[in-house]
Amino acid sequence: MQRILITSAIPYINGIKHLGNLVGSQLPADLYARYMRARGHEVMFICGTDEHGTPAELAAAAAGIPVAQYCADMWAKQKRLSDRFQLSFDKFGRSSSPQNHRLTQYFAERLAENGLIEEVVESQLYSKADGRFLPDRYVEGTCPDCGYDRARGDQCENCTRQLDPTDLIEPRSAISGSTDLEIRETRHLYLRQSALRERLEEWIASKDDWPILTTSIARKWLHDGDGLRDRGITRDLEWGVPVRRGERPWPGMEGKVFYVWFDAPIEYIAATKEWADGEGLEDAAWRSWWRTDEGASDVRYVQFMGKDNVPFHTLSFPATIIGSGEPWKLVDYIKSFNYLNYDGGQFSTSLGRGIFMDQALDILPADYWRWWLLSHAPENSDSEFTWENFQVSVNKDLADILGNFVSRVTKFCRSKFGEAVPGGGEPEDRERALIAELETRVAAYQRHLEAIEIRKAANELRAIWAGGNEYLQDAAPWSVFRERPERAAAIIRFSLNLIRLYAVLSAPFIPDTATKMMKAMRAEDGLWPKDIAAALASLPPGRSFTVPDNLFSKISDAERESWQKRFAGGRE
Ligand code: 2FM
Ligand code: ZN
Repeated sequence: MQRILITSAIPYINGIKHLGNLVGSQLPADLYARYMRARGHEVMFICGTDEHGTPAELAAAAAGIPVAQYCADMWAKQKRLSDRFQLSFDKFGRSSSPQNHRLTQYFAERLAENGLIEEVVESQLYSKADGRFLPDRYVEGTCPDCGYDRARGDQCENCTRQLDPTDLIEPRSAISGSTDLEIRETRHLYLRQSALRERLEEWIASKDDWPILTTSIARKWLHDGDGLRDRGITRDLEWGVPVRRGERPWPGMEGKVFYVWFDAPIEYIAATKEWADGEGLEDAAWRSWWRTDEGASDVRYVQFMGKDNVPFHTLSFPATIIGSGEPWKLVDYIKSFNYLNYDGGQFSTSLGRGIFMDQALDILPADYWRWWLLSHAPENSDSEFTWENFQVSVNKDLADILGNFVSRVTKFCRSKFGEAVPGGGEPEDRERALIAELETRVAAYQRHLEAIEIRKAANELRAIWAGGNEYLQDAAPWSVFRERPERAAAIIRFSLNLIRLYAVLSAPFIPDTATKMMKAMRAEDGLWPKDIAAALASLPPGRSFTVPDNLFSKISDAERESWQKRFAGGRE
């Protein structure tokens, strides 16, 4: 048994997340967490909301409510939606928590002690029209690197480069659109990332098993870009973690807050403390996940995120951790994702384009979405959601293959043998052949899940379901029943056991459906199969079951067309 720490990038608080956000970190992280728990490992799965910085302030201003209230409301909404999507976080924290305030100030103090913080008089964009400084997302313009004309002051979404507002070409205010901007001086704390270059280079070079997407972005900004340029970690904003040196004030920094990208990843640690505090546990409980001197040296730490987050997790956050000079846990493996596009364009929160988590659940249950998103995860390149593809996937994989198998087996059994596992007959060559096939397939499925190769895992699972259908078609209990009822009973007993096995194997992808299948089979033991033949003999003759309601409904052409229309116009 291993201890596995899993974090998903914490979504910005500003608004309900779209399906592109979901598949870019939280959902694959959940798949992995569920799988690892099913294999008997001890898992700590952390997520939360990223509440500081300009996205929160801008959204609260647009909604006309105080930012603290806005964040509290949106946290509750996001939490409710993540529950409905069955995201099995051990803690869904908040970066505005007192725990994160304290820990962020603590890290700043350690960095300062180690000579890694410098006070710099900085030139910042000031908007005369808005009467304020414009940090980060308060300013938009053209990326100096790739020419993307809607780059924001903190990062270019198109090429992932981290930016400062003054890097932008033709900058404009995101509040008023004003281009009447001037450069004014203000004092800020800088993290001397450049002093950590060698250690970061060495650390990244040692990660030869990371996915190419992760290492290519990390190396790009480490070597060709200026990813390790010293950067301001404070801002002239009201909402955020006040700049303090641990418990003490920081002279000259009154009224300033830490930069959101400084405090957000620290929330992974703080949320684990929020979990421990919530459970009434001692500090040792959360520290054993994070301090290698207090038990975390045997923890495997895996992070999930979209590609735009990679520079912050391979350079900035590790700089904080290494620079602290203390034995905090560094990430062991980073799984990153490309973007999911929506019907010929991008999903966009600001434009309301695509399908958002609440809307998705208004039209279909979570498992339909979980299956489609995970089986089309943008791993090796960007992928695209189209309604046609979604319809085909749901109707074929879920309804025709899995749903149909469960329905045929349970209904046939009920009509011929009643609602209990029938006795009689013995496994024959057909069953032995399927067991052999499943042994190979389940081993491959496990390998893919362990390697976090999500599409490959989904393909294998689909093939595992399809194997059952082919077996049933071929063994044809309905044809042998009249002449050899015992043989039909053996086929059906084997098939009912397959339903139980499918439930266990499918639970990481489609947890609600898996629960329904387990309940219908009255199967208490959901243990991961060690031995396929034994797992397929676990429901004994005489065990009663119920015929479940139809597991999946097919999507009709009319439904598909109406949803396509409804979502074409953008979010209200
Ligand atoms: O891209 C995002 O949604 C960011 N809020 C992710 C932050 S992840 C981490 F640093 F906490
Ligand atoms: Zn760019």
